Amino acid sequence: MARINDHYQKLAAGYLFPEIGRRVGAFQSANPKADVIRLGIGDVVLPLAASVRQAMHDAVDEMAEASGFKGYGPERGYGFLREAIARHDYGDRGVEIDPNEIFVSDGSKCDSGNIQEIFAEDATLAIPDPVYPVYVDTNVMAGRTGPAGANGRYAGIQYLPCTEASGFLPSLPTRPVDLVYLCSPNNPTGAVASKAELEKWVAWARANGAILLFDAAYERFITDPDLPRSIFEIPGARECAIEFRSYSKTAGFTGIRCAFVVIPKELMGRNGRGEAVSVASLWDRRTSTKFNGVSYPVQRAAEAIYSEAGRKEIQANIDYYMANAAIIRAGLSKAGFTTFGGVNAPYVWMKTPNGLDSWQFFDALLAKANVVGTPGSGFGSCGEGYLRLSAFGFSAKVEEAVGRIVQHFA
Ligand code: MLT
Repeated sequence: MARINDHYQKLAAGYLFPEIGRRVGAFQSANPKADVIRLGIGDVVLPLAASVRQAMHDAVDEMAEASGFKGYGPERGYGFLREAIARHDYGDRGVEIDPNEIFVSDGSKCDSGNIQEIFAEDATLAIPDPVYPVYVDTNVMAGRTGPAGANGRYAGIQYLPCTEASGFLPSLPTRPVDLVYLCSPNNPTGAVASKAELEKWVAWARANGAILLFDAAYERFITDPDLPRSIFEIPGARECAIEFRSYSKTAGFTGIRCAFVVIPKELMGRNGRGEAVSVASLWDRRTSTKFNGVSYPVQRAAEAIYSEAGRKEIQANIDYYMANAAIIRAGLSKAGFTTFGGVNAPYVWMKTPNGLDSWQFFDALLAKANVVGTPGSGFGSCGEGYLRLSAFGFSAKVEEAVGRIVQHFA
């Protein structure tokens, strides 16, 4: 028998969302008539924007002609998309990013999961708790941790608790580390770091020689104009940060797949001899070895969201989801539940009622109200006692779900 990667056996549980899918599937098999409303995984429901659809059609037609056919594309993305990103996502907000600092990919899950590969096997980590589980799990798989303890926390990771008392924002690590994962707007709590907060992180990273892995997949859902959308709005971040962005939620691309990573040319790591090495050059090397790029029609579709019509269309979809978030917040708060988030993020973080733990509430919610949420403890031990509700659903269903939660648990 071939030797396996033993680190996988340290993983304390299956990946969160398939586990939820398994429980919901079992419930539905046992209760085929139940009308289950899914506000668990953050998956979009609205159809593709007209501009996106048209751009994909046009790209397919172009490739159907000998003159427009495309084979392998550039591994790091076509210039037209990288230029649109640099101009609109960054330039329009006064942030200078060179298109050559952008790497187009097929998703932020892959990017935020794969980035650790270019760092040392013994690189040290700080990770907020609770947070998107990919950051922890991929480092466990890579062997950067010891086994999980009773509370599900892995030895070797410096966890940064995000609690109600801290506004669900992580505090600075107490010991220096190589890598810090940050997610703002935060999945799952919906908390967003202010400019002052990010300035604190950038100053700390620079003083400690750390790199911030900044996941901004939900930046489009920020409604407060004073909140930063990018770590690169903070002076000095170019020397200490990598940013991840995604079209999944902003433009309905969860099934289409397109995202990007920004690695500034100033960002350096150090090799075993203590010499400075460009981090972007390593990611470029990895990308060109392991990835053949995102398909041409998909990159044209992504480009279309920067057109005037495309911007309006995707903004309308974002507004629709944020109106759902408001429905969830208002409905639950009025009935006496404690909720957070949902103002600058498409997730509402609610305290579980009646002393139930996260999974107990998840199960009760499914059984009694036929509503699916995501147990907070699945995002880390500090998520215990909370449940995340996603605003990505049809409004009528979201309203009904809120009504059922109130009916059964208020
Ligand atoms: C979530 O529900 O947290 C996300 O949809 C998961 C993801 O983006 O991979």
